[in-house]
Amino acid sequence: MEFFECMGGEETIRKIVNAFYPKVMAHPYLAPIFPDDIEPLIEKQFQFLTQFFGGPTLYTDLHGNPMMRARHAPFPITTERAEAWLACMHSALEEVVPSHEVRAIILDRLKGPAYFFVNTRE
Ligand code: HEM
Repeated sequence: MEFFECMGGEETIRKIVNAFYPKVMAHPYLAPIFPDDIEPLIEKQFQFLTQFFGGPTLYTDLHGNPMMRARHAPFPITTERAEAWLACMHSALEEVVPSHEVRAIILDRLKGPAYFFVNTRE
């Protein structure tokens, strides 16, 4: 079975993004750089993560080449913010993904991109 099916497909991705963004918006390092209206971002992240984990190419179909590092360039992303983002994701995964093994794979695949998006020291 492909990893995407194994992790529960779009249904699980939906649960992850719904659990994740309230944590981001409650985080003192992260909240200030995110928009007040988080709904459009939740939708884009759903589309992106679906594609990223091997599901249908929802993000590219709607928004073109992801070029995620470039799309993050307007926002000051420090190492502390990358770690905070990953910590919010870790705790969202603990809420909605029962398998420890699956959680570890998801987090591990997001670590590289998160640190890669770091674009400033402060
Ligand atoms: C490293 C820490 C990260 C921070 C601080 C961060 C922050 C942000 C911010 C501020 C936005 C723009 C919100 C707006 O539209 O105003 C954004 C967009 C987005 N982020 Fe992140 N992000 C991080 C990591 C990631 C990672 C690891 C992924 C996925 C691998 C990701 C996926 C996305 C997507 C899909 C969008 C929407 C892009 C679009 O506009 O089409 N982000 N992020």
